[in-house]
Amino acid sequence: MRKKAKDSSELWRPKKHSTVDYEPWQRLTLMRLETDTRTQLASKKHRLEHSLSVASMAEHLAILYDVDPFLACAAGYLHDWDKVLSAEELIRRAQRFGIDLGVPLESVEPLLHGMVAARELPERYPHLPEEVWHAIACHTSAAEDMSPLDMVLFVADGIEPLRRASEGIQQTRSLVGHVSLDDLFWNAFVGGLVYVLEGGRYLYPRAIDIYNSLAQDRLRARNLKERRA
Ligand SMILES: [Fe+2]
Ligand SMILES: [Fe+2]
Repeated sequence: MRKKAKDSSELWRPKKHSTVDYEPWQRLTLMRLETDTRTQLASKKHRLEHSLSVASMAEHLAILYDVDPFLACAAGYLHDWDKVLSAEELIRRAQRFGIDLGVPLESVEPLLHGMVAARELPERYPHLPEEVWHAIACHTSAAEDMSPLDMVLFVADGIEPLRRASEGIQQTRSLVGHVSLDDLFWNAFVGGLVYVLEGGRYLYPRAIDIYNSLAQDRLRARNLKERRA
């Protein structure tokens, strides 16, 4: 019998914490975050597996693109922390934190879990820096000011091996290690927008502003590069 072709994502599936020379306190912190994530998401098996996979993928991308793998892995574990909440509870908490996205929160509820977690978790993990919370806050919506860590988490969330492959996801996966982190993120971000539009889903209005801002930044960078060449 012919063996089923392997999903190409398996070819570069990372091994957990395998190649990183972490400080003992970092290793302990990551072990604690993994344990806490397992407890928090115990009732949501797929979400838990996804979160563990995003942590590994974020660590892998971070190593590849010279970003701090400890912060990437930590952000990966925690990014979907509030996915256990009901839509009503998520909206209630977003209102309590004064999160205003310019539209009724009900229409952007799928975007809220990262923003709420980024406001709740610093109290629980005060030793983790602001960059981690920024990455978690914008992992659903992206932002005009994406840092390399933000991009790593955004891409890892979109392409981790357990996520069912669409054409766009496969394309992003195929670019890992072959293009810059900026280009990889851009591919994932635009792929996400296409997914929303093609599926007739609600488009968060600020996504257009974010797209235009990022597109202009890319154009400026390209022009500058061409002038220098
Ligand atoms: Fe998420
Ligand atoms: Fe996620």
